Amino acid sequence: MTDAKDRVVKRMRELIELISHHDIKYYVEDNPEISDYEYDTLLRELRDLEEKHPELVLPDSPTQRVSGKALEEFPQVEHMVAMLSLDNCYSEDELKEFDARVRKLLGGEQVEYVVELKIDGLGVALMYEDGLFVRGATRGDGRIGEEVTQNIKTIKSIPLRLRPGGIRTAEVRGEVYMSKDGLRKLNREREKAGEPLFANPRNAAAGSIRQLDSKVAASRPLDIFLYTLSYSKDSMPGTHEGCLSLMRSSGLRTSPQTKRFERIEDVLGHIASWESKRDDLGYEIDGIVVKVNSLEQQRRLGYTAKNPRWAIAYKYPPKQMTTRLLGIDIQVGRTGTLTPVAVLEPVQVGGVTVTHATLHNEDEVKRKGLRIGDHVLIERAGEVIPQVVKPIVERRTGAEKEFRMPTSCPVCGSKAVREEGEAARRCINASCPAQVKERLRHFCSRDAMDIEGVGPALVDQLVGKGLVHDAADLYDLRKEQLLELEGVAERSSENILNAIRASMDREFSRVLFALGIRHVGRTTANDLAEAFRSMDKLMSAAREELSVVEGVGDVVAGAVRDFFDNSSNRRLIERLRKTGLSMQASGRAGGTLEGKVFLFTGELSSMTRSQAEEKVRELGGKVSPSVTKATDYVVVGRDPGSKLDKAKKMGKSILDENAFVRMTGGR
Ligand code: IVH
Repeated sequence: MTDAKDRVVKRMRELIELISHHDIKYYVEDNPEISDYEYDTLLRELRDLEEKHPELVLPDSPTQRVSGKALEEFPQVEHMVAMLSLDNCYSEDELKEFDARVRKLLGGEQVEYVVELKIDGLGVALMYEDGLFVRGATRGDGRIGEEVTQNIKTIKSIPLRLRPGGIRTAEVRGEVYMSKDGLRKLNREREKAGEPLFANPRNAAAGSIRQLDSKVAASRPLDIFLYTLSYSKDSMPGTHEGCLSLMRSSGLRTSPQTKRFERIEDVLGHIASWESKRDDLGYEIDGIVVKVNSLEQQRRLGYTAKNPRWAIAYKYPPKQMTTRLLGIDIQVGRTGTLTPVAVLEPVQVGGVTVTHATLHNEDEVKRKGLRIGDHVLIERAGEVIPQVVKPIVERRTGAEKEFRMPTSCPVCGSKAVREEGEAARRCINASCPAQVKERLRHFCSRDAMDIEGVGPALVDQLVGKGLVHDAADLYDLRKEQLLELEGVAERSSENILNAIRASMDREFSRVLFALGIRHVGRTTANDLAEAFRSMDKLMSAAREELSVVEGVGDVVAGAVRDFFDNSSNRRLIERLRKTGLSMQASGRAGGTLEGKVFLFTGELSSMTRSQAEEKVRELGGKVSPSVTKATDYVVVGRDPGSKLDKAKKMGKSILDENAFVRMTGGR
């Protein structure tokens, strides 16, 4: 190699080391040391060098996370140490039996247990050689798995090079998972595209890791928690906890929710406390794993044919259940979409009674092969809405009926058409009462105009009695009219009128969201309001201008244009303008918080998190999800999280709720 080349490679190595250090700080430890800008500068320098010298690109370069070409199939790999699964138990007694068994086999010795969350995802093994990530594999049948290195590399929290001074040549195991939010977002996109939805984060993670094209995997919001050091060429720590901490200091992402106990009663208490807390986690768990801490004791306890004797999984009540599909109702949405909804024989799933589940669209019913009268498998994963997974074909009697999607609107009888390339069938009558009601409900909802007291039932009556036909009519309502309605007395009529009046102060982005433009959610409405600043500018923007706004693609831009091109929508906007609703963005430039970055942790008492964030944005400030160098203020509510400790360590200004309210001009 020439000197010049030597120098290039040396600089590349330096950059990779730096970037990989900052990747761990950012993705694994949630504690960045440099700004995004500084990080991007490092990355750009590396990219430039690689472009000039493609033959010198190093395998652990962060630019190699997504490979260029798709695979034909996954190669098979034999696991060095078999990937066994855990024995399950479902009750206190069974867990006590496990404890008794362990103690007996160890001749009455003292035992420590390490208790971890059982992440609901896909088990994988990662191989490192001399600190370099060389291979990733799925569990497969436990003996032979699939090599999915390219897809595993797309997960940003997996270091391509481990931190020096820790693990070098080793195999680690963990769970690839998708967050609840990530799944919800992915499913929303899939629904728009008419693709089948994932019933749970586990299927979504597995489906993403088993993509032959790593670009697809890279687009999926996957993450990982590592929980086993299954092999190391160097000496191993004496305990499981020691292994976890060695993994952590090597830059591997391990769960922060790991605890050690000496008595099984305390383990049980811990399990009980997680049963409700688990809904607050950003990802799905299906149980708790209990492991003997000492590796020497683990070795003595050994394995049965399938499971280790030193560990067990306590499983929470299943979130899957079978029940009967009694019928399929058709719901008409605010844009006229006809959605088939499964009517189910009521069944308890994961602690709630499920009676309905959305079937999304007619193709989904067909794809699942559902017939009315079928026994069906229902799944309710976390906050994900209940879904019908599949029919139990074996239980058919022959009396089940095929479902036919109606071609006319079940509410107003107008034609329901399905446009080319669309998954949804739509009622074409914009004054269809079902659409009118849904549009109004959306307009009044919390994230939109937040008109308290005007809920679905009241909207039903208002539209049914012909008092309200659109959102603008709400602002003309009189007390005598409200008093005509069922369940509305003097006091409540006043409250309703006050709530309607109060909504006139809502900021522009809410008004925009409240209009119910197809594909324009709260975030997109914010982005559009920010970019165009006024209704007039937005209404006259061409599709091309709209689609350059971040978060707005062609589809959204088209929907926005279609909405404003419709004359009755334009008339509605003019009436709302006359009523006095905000048609212009306020704040930002010149606001009192201009350029300031806020972070919230813990629960506020006088307002919701989103109200507080809105206040910051209104005054020109920004909100960030994690503490970084750029953070100016940390606002602390009740039960703050670990972000507070971090903020204190970093010497940030901490505000309590009162101080925040004063700063933002409140009392
Ligand atoms: S330890 C010998 N710890 O649950 C088995 N597994 O059947 C060692 N899982 O295949 C596995 N969270 O994919 C372990 N904290 C955790 C886990 C966990 C999820 C998965 C793993 C395993 C399955 C159990």
